[in-house]
Amino acid sequence: MSAQFPVARPRRLRRTPALRRMVAETRLSPADLVLPMFVKEGIAEPQPVSSMPGVFQHTRDSLRKAAQEAAEAGVGGIILFGVPAVKDGVGSAADDPDGIVQLALRDLNADLGDSTVIMTDLCLDEYTDHGHCGVLTGSGEDGEIDNDATLERYASIAVAQAEAGSAVVGPSGMMDGQVAAIRAALDGAGHPDVAIMGYSVKYASAYYGPFREAAECAPQFGDRSTHQQDPANADESLREVLLDLDEGADMVMVKPAGAYLDIVRRVRDAVQVPVAAYQVSGEYAMIEAAAEKGWIDRERTIMESLLSIRRAGADIALTYWATEVARRLS
Ligand code: PBG
Repeated sequence: MSAQFPVARPRRLRRTPALRRMVAETRLSPADLVLPMFVKEGIAEPQPVSSMPGVFQHTRDSLRKAAQEAAEAGVGGIILFGVPAVKDGVGSAADDPDGIVQLALRDLNADLGDSTVIMTDLCLDEYTDHGHCGVLTGSGEDGEIDNDATLERYASIAVAQAEAGSAVVGPSGMMDGQVAAIRAALDGAGHPDVAIMGYSVKYASAYYGPFREAAECAPQFGDRSTHQQDPANADESLREVLLDLDEGADMVMVKPAGAYLDIVRRVRDAVQVPVAAYQVSGEYAMIEAAAEKGWIDRERTIMESLLSIRRAGADIALTYWATEVARRLS
């Protein structure tokens, strides 16, 4: 039997900062952090996102500057979201070689080399006029997402992004078979080295609210609950992860992070690939808003939220605070 009080005194190891640091079980480091960034076509100045204080829709130039700062702070990677000037039913701008993300990818590859990993979100919702993550059958409010037709679009977007220099594509649309379709397209187009980070576990979450302002992608009718997961379910997440790995995903993601740390842990325990978790816009907005009111200590809450994500088992955290936190860590 292990010793009891007064012999056992766990507080001994908490007495000084040096002791606490030495025995810390989990550490955060800049390389674990990935910064999501928005780049918008056709704007002259960066536009603040009102529901995400400190986050901007970037111009190509301001993106370069902010990405450079992130790389200098040592962040592990950045992931790009594009906001095109023109949207249509099939999201044509998404795989246009001169679409905004492709242009930004070329800029960033020229600037950053391999000082940080340049990744791309791969979805259609920012590019479609109806705001859905796929192409629709039927029209207007009767439209439904056509899973298999959407895969062809994703395959083409993957190739466009790879050609422009994305090192890792992150399909976030939750279409069945998306990883397989993208892997086949990348390999077929001569990009076997471009990796896939599956947004394998993506819940139909209210925490994405502020993102829809940032990416201008709120669905014009209906919602995403026919493709994103029900927050009530957990086993289903493992099924999604295993399917994505079978289809060739190199890494898997759980999203959102904070309200789904149980899922992060279960996925971590089930797989042998890197696990990412996305601290989404609503998680960011809640902490910023409470801090603005003086109700919580902003820096401490940010660090605690990220440490929790790592402690739950995520290797990589996507967070809008990546640059700030990376600077604080180094
Ligand atoms: C879809 C996508 C979304 C987010 C990332 N990719 C929104 C959605 O599914 O509605 C949300 C990210 C965030 O809230 O920070 N392309």
